[in-house]
Amino acid sequence: MGLLLVLYLCISTWTGKTLGDENGVVTVNVSQGKDAILPCSPTTKENLSFKSFKWRKDGQNVFYYDAGSHYNNGHDGQDPQFKDRVSFFQDQLGSGDASIQIQTVTIQDNGIYSCEISGLNSGSQTFNIKLLVNVPILQTREGSDVMLPCSPSGKDDLTHETFDWQKDDEQQVFLYRNGKHYNNGLTGQNENFRNRVEFFQDQLQFGNASIRIKNTKLTDSGNYSCTIPHLQPPGQKFYMKLVVHVCPKPRLGTKKTADGIRVICSVPDVSKVEMEMELHNSDDKSVGQLVDAGTSQNNKYFIFSVTKEGDYRCLVKQKEFCHQIYSEESFVLISGDDKGLSPGYVAVIVAFILSAILNITLLYFLWKCTRSSGRV
Ligand SMILES: *[C@@H]1O[C@H](CO)[C@@H](O)[C@H](O)[C@H]1NC(C)=O
Ligand SMILES: *[C@@H]1O[C@H](CO)[C@@H](O)[C@H](O)[C@H]1NC(C)=O
Ligand SMILES: *[C@@H]1O[C@H](CO)[C@@H](O)[C@H](O)[C@H]1NC(C)=O
Ligand SMILES: *[C@@H]1O[C@H](CO)[C@@H](O)[C@H](O)[C@H]1NC(C)=O
Repeated sequence: MGLLLVLYLCISTWTGKTLGDENGVVTVNVSQGKDAILPCSPTTKENLSFKSFKWRKDGQNVFYYDAGSHYNNGHDGQDPQFKDRVSFFQDQLGSGDASIQIQTVTIQDNGIYSCEISGLNSGSQTFNIKLLVNVPILQTREGSDVMLPCSPSGKDDLTHETFDWQKDDEQQVFLYRNGKHYNNGLTGQNENFRNRVEFFQDQLQFGNASIRIKNTKLTDSGNYSCTIPHLQPPGQKFYMKLVVHVCPKPRLGTKKTADGIRVICSVPDVSKVEMEMELHNSDDKSVGQLVDAGTSQNNKYFIFSVTKEGDYRCLVKQKEFCHQIYSEESFVLISGDDKGLSPGYVAVIVAFILSAILNITLLYFLWKCTRSSGRV
């Protein structure tokens, strides 16, 4: 193992490359809007104060340090995307740390960065670091309101600025331009969003360009972006994904089996999310024994056995967005026969009642008759 490492260091020194190439790209996973630290350090941990290191990404100059001179103290050539957003760790240079920190990352910052350190005893070393910016996923329930957050770094007052919200990079959701916006006369908003989007006037001064979409529809699902074109760095664009879930009402049905009455609760499986189903009686207590469950024809079904006649409702429970939805209440009959349904049975009952009335009447007359005859 030790020998292998020596051999590896030897080869890498000779080729001027080390860990981080083909076989060892370090991945840094950061949420959009947060700061990312991209690590880089020569294998020899040399003092870098009087060396130089250069960070690049797809041909863009991200950061350059050369014996004390760098992009943040006058050295020019930095790509505008990274201007005023990249810092290094001055007090760590002595221990061989050429890492940088990038402020408020967006998905434009995604990609593979290279860090090249030169002037080392061993020549130069290059490392590759992959930055992966995670886009937030917002989930909501159809018909409810949802807030799409956007607060760029710097928190500059946006009252006299422009911010633009788009969906799937083509539909105009909301535009604010120096006091004018879609809700007070600016034109161009997609019909879908007419009268459904509001922003927060009193929050603009704090650099808050969030919006709220009211009464969400299934078709609102998609990728949204918030752009603030004139703020530094230029073209800052924040993405987020919105998923609108439909929460259909469950249905209640019954089925007669050899083992008794079964109540079937079913619900369209639209959102493909985890859910629970309960059967509730008229006191809203969870009752019945779950005997089977599954999916059939895009419906999730749950079968309960019940032993008591009465009113029942199915209840779907879903943690994140649907929460609780009841079916309509339905009376469940327990008797094994099709009592009340078969016309033959109705005829028998009617005949029975009629004959009973007849018998009672006859008895009554008989009784009256004997009484009156006894009195006379
Ligand atoms: C990055 O982090 C997020 C949350 O911390 C996680 O959900 C995601 O799977 C991670 N991605 C990778 C590629 O590691
Ligand atoms: C690194 O080099 C600089 C300049 O020579 C020196 O001031 C500093 O003390 C050194 N740091 C360490 C940890 O050796
Ligand atoms: C932006 O404003 C909204 C509405 O007042 C608020 O809920 C949200 O927390 C604010 N965001 C930030 C980052 O302050
Ligand atoms: C949203 O963006 C992701 C990649 O970030 C892409 O895979 C997906 O197809 C996009 N969805 C829409 C509706 O454009």
